[in-house]
Amino acid sequence: MTSTAPSVSGLDLQRAAREHLWMHFTRMSSYASADVPIIVRGDGCYLEDSNGKRYLDALAGLFSVNIGYGYGEEVGQAALEQMRELPFYTTWSYAHPRAVELAAEVASLAPGDLNRVFFVSGGSEAVESAWKLARQYYQVREGHPGKAGIEPGTRVEPGRAGRRYKAIARRLAYHGTTMGALSLNGVPAIRQPFEPLVPEVRHVRNTNRYHRPPEETEEQFTALLLEELEHTIQAIGPETVCLVHMEPVQSTGGCLTPPAGYFQGVREICDRYDILLSADEVICAFGRLGYWFGSERYDIRPDLMTCAKGLSSSYASIGAVIATDRVFEPFLSSSSMFSHGITFGGHPVMCAIALKNIEIMKRERMIEGVREHEDAFRSTLEQLLDLPIVGDVRGAGFFYSVELVKDKETRETFSADECEWLLRGFLSRRLLECGLICRADDRGDPVIQLSPPLVARQGEFDEIVRILGDVLTEAWAELRRR
Ligand SMILES: Cc1ncc(COP(=O)(O)O)c(C=O)c1O
Repeated sequence: MTSTAPSVSGLDLQRAAREHLWMHFTRMSSYASADVPIIVRGDGCYLEDSNGKRYLDALAGLFSVNIGYGYGEEVGQAALEQMRELPFYTTWSYAHPRAVELAAEVASLAPGDLNRVFFVSGGSEAVESAWKLARQYYQVREGHPGKAGIEPGTRVEPGRAGRRYKAIARRLAYHGTTMGALSLNGVPAIRQPFEPLVPEVRHVRNTNRYHRPPEETEEQFTALLLEELEHTIQAIGPETVCLVHMEPVQSTGGCLTPPAGYFQGVREICDRYDILLSADEVICAFGRLGYWFGSERYDIRPDLMTCAKGLSSSYASIGAVIATDRVFEPFLSSSSMFSHGITFGGHPVMCAIALKNIEIMKRERMIEGVREHEDAFRSTLEQLLDLPIVGDVRGAGFFYSVELVKDKETRETFSADECEWLLRGFLSRRLLECGLICRADDRGDPVIQLSPPLVARQGEFDEIVRILGDVLTEAWAELRRR
């Protein structure tokens, strides 16, 4: 652990947090009387709070600190050197060495001809940019080059160039919070407060198989999903759809892996209707699934990929959209351009950090490490299936969910009130007390999500299962008593 002082100014951090900090997705009322958990340092898979309490971070921050917390010195040195050389310059009409090097590095790691990298500051911006890129791609391809290339006063007819603007995503999938990314979200509770959203997104079934009829085969399930996707495209007009946006393994709903043949079918449908397929790799890329990109694991062959978190292991605020040569090609015509940009896209210090992160991941063989240890992670987690409250353990790589059920035989789930007590009233608090950070989530059926740093090994797997096992046993006993 590094020995950073909790506060540089002698400020009462707890009080200042309660009085001034607005935490994201947080019921701030919870902290009117309780302490705000203030994390002051980290190392490997472990964190320490301002009271000196240690936690095993089985979520890697937000599915994102892939190399763990122990590389601050080395990454900091890279950031310092970049600060000295060039603290900032823009990628609007200019390049600088770190953006060029990182783009080349990411392109070399990305599968197929995903060769063109557009940098942004995070996952939501990556998703937002992917949808905008898809919308403009068809316009540019059809000869409308983008604002700079259109003669002043020329009107781009919505019936022609602006025709393909709709997108398809999956129910319960989380894709971020900016208005475009939010509109792609399939999580009703976070969409509704901000409606009306960006037109026009349709949500299709996700790949949760746990609550499907037991006699349904994997092939039948795949066929059902693909049929629904194709019908949805036909119903809204294939000529109006520009994007199908899906995670390789869907996080929300509980690490939903694709059934056999699913992504091959999605690819075929996108090809049939000339729609761009975008893989949301914000969680799945940079080793989470044992590959540089989840698209490799499932042979998705997307036209676009969005990434962020693991690109820098969250040591920096950086994300990217990666496009194929085919998608980029129309933007090479003389007067066309992607009419989109943000000040911090490709920030040199963020790029230097991401480059160092990738160097560390390669040197420490972190991708190989996930593949070597994922079976051990799964089989350790499967010990939890002995508990009456655990219905399913599912996921891939170092990305797993444990689904909680009221009745294992019938797979009956908990009511909204029971979930409220179980997840927010009991599990979240009790797991933290016991020193385990993971996510208890009921945006779909109730699950515990686990996504440890890629440096986690058998010792951490055992600790996760020991603490989770004890706390879930307590929860079950409490539920019986209630
Ligand atoms: C799949 C996916 N897409 C997009 C996002 C949004 O990323 P960010 O929080 O960096 O904006 C997330 C965040 O968790 C995500 O999981």
